Amino acid sequence: MNKDLQSIVLTEEQIREKVTAAAAWLDERYKGKKPLAVSVLKGSVMFFCDLVRAMNTPVQIDFMTVSSYGASSESSGMPKIVMDLAASVKGRDVLLVEDIVDSGYTLQRMRDLLIGRGAQSFTVVALFDKPARRQVDVKADYACFEIGDEFIVGYGLDYAQQYRNLPYVGILKREIYEK
Ligand code: IMP
Ligand code: MG
Repeated sequence: MNKDLQSIVLTEEQIREKVTAAAAWLDERYKGKKPLAVSVLKGSVMFFCDLVRAMNTPVQIDFMTVSSYGASSESSGMPKIVMDLAASVKGRDVLLVEDIVDSGYTLQRMRDLLIGRGAQSFTVVALFDKPARRQVDVKADYACFEIGDEFIVGYGLDYAQQYRNLPYVGILKREIYEK
């Protein structure tokens, strides 16, 4: 385990199990459809790649970079679109893939934006949900794992752009971000 972590939240094997279950749920939901799967970068990148490969549904993929944190463990409340989608979402069944729903500001922003652009349906799958931290009334349609008020890193999730390439997810020691 990385020395900056306090404990492991999901091992590689546990991640695989969560991904398989989420993919099965999505295949059921999207029978006969061709959704546009959108990865909210950078945090969801690992989960996204594993998830779409575990699905049998034919999906198209696209990417959007959203930034809300800077070098902090608290959301700024004003997520910024750093890079927009290449595809039009008008009339599409949009599958938004998030790493984690925390305050909910990012998800609220994405939902308003993509529904505003004419998405026909909007489904959110998140690897993690931190319900205790919610500031706005939004919810993932499917969340793989619920966690308390802890700051986690790995498998795409970062602190100040570090730890994204850990193959597992762990709780970051408080002393690392409370300096
Ligand atoms: P929200 O807008 O506060 O819901 O935050 C959404 C984004 O903040 C997520 O997509 C993550 O990129 C980031 N985030 C929230 N909690 C954590 C965490 O515990 N570790 C790493 N990133 C996090
Ligand atoms: Mg994110």
